Amino acid sequence: MVWPMDLHLTPDVSAFQAVLARLSPEDRARVDAALEPAAVRAAEAAPHWDFEMPAKAVDALLGPGVSDDVRRGLVAAWALGLPDRVKAMALPAEVLTLYPYWIDQLAAFLSKAEGDYDFDHWSKDVRFSLALSVPGAKSQVIDLSSPVGPGQIVKHVREGWGFRPLFRYLAAGAKREPWLEVHTESRWLRGFNEDGWNEAWATAAEICRTRPELAGMIGSSWFYDPPLTEISPRLAHLRLNPLKGGAFMVHQGPGEIHTERAGTASASRKALIDSGEYTARSWLMVWPRKELIAWADRRKMEEAASHQA
Ligand SMILES: CC(C)(COP(=O)(O)OP(=O)(O)OC[C@H]1O[C@@H](n2cnc3c(N)ncnc32)[C@H](O)[C@@H]1OP(=O)(O)O)[C@@H](O)C(=O)NCCC(=O)NCCS
Repeated sequence: MVWPMDLHLTPDVSAFQAVLARLSPEDRARVDAALEPAAVRAAEAAPHWDFEMPAKAVDALLGPGVSDDVRRGLVAAWALGLPDRVKAMALPAEVLTLYPYWIDQLAAFLSKAEGDYDFDHWSKDVRFSLALSVPGAKSQVIDLSSPVGPGQIVKHVREGWGFRPLFRYLAAGAKREPWLEVHTESRWLRGFNEDGWNEAWATAAEICRTRPELAGMIGSSWFYDPPLTEISPRLAHLRLNPLKGGAFMVHQGPGEIHTERAGTASASRKALIDSGEYTARSWLMVWPRKELIAWADRRKMEEAASHQA
């Protein structure tokens, strides 16, 4: 297996150790006591549809009143064990080559962090440091196990959004589980662009190739909403490229979190939302493994042809 990084030769080890060394003796004892049982609870919670479930399971084990320094200490301690965990997982080279970058990012984040540990960051760091989610590209992380029940598909049909996802879901092997699920890492957005997303989908295809039990890959976001092709054309590739590659979309609907996220970075979108001209809606993007792998194969052939030209 390709393992491009020897973590023990990188400065990240001392960064993680420094996070642990900063702890009071009481907090250090809490970290040491929780290390193994919290990892087990997090792994048990990981296949749930709620991305945050592993962090919530760890919080339940830690109990009330635990400081964010203890949480950071746990992530640092788990990160020190990450190479051994990953070695045992037979991940494709496309994932492994991303680890040095991601571990650097996490080490830099933890070294600077103090005060509140944003819950989204904590949730992502629990999953990443325990390899429940793995790097997909520079700004995308992939959960290794996520469910797609029939409920959302049925709701889509019942609410009049069309029958297509039902047929596609059945064709993809309705009961087949689990799916990979991709998420954006808002702390490091360097790869949030068309190439970065293509890389993430290609990585997911390689994971599917090595794990025949996987049904394919999903993503859930406001940024798959069809009106964005008009109002935020720079984001249109997020929906159009998967569709061209054989994915299908399931309507999930509006919600406070989608309104907030869609309005965060774009002043023009925020103005349309505030005036009531646009309502942000979340969609589930579902890319079955057969179509995803075929897309990745075509992409490889196109890349090889362009190198020869
Ligand atoms: C998802 C996200 C990272 C996308 O950011 P993005 O690629 O910059 O795309 P956005 O459409 O949001 O653009 C933000 C603004 O910056 C401007 N902009 C972005 N890149 C630019 C560039 N290279 N040059 C000039 N302006 C740029 C855009 O014009 C846009 O403003 P406008 O729509 O008023 O014109 C961002 O919307 C975000 O952080 N949202 C909150 C978190 C989130 O939703 N995460 C995903 C959860 S599912």
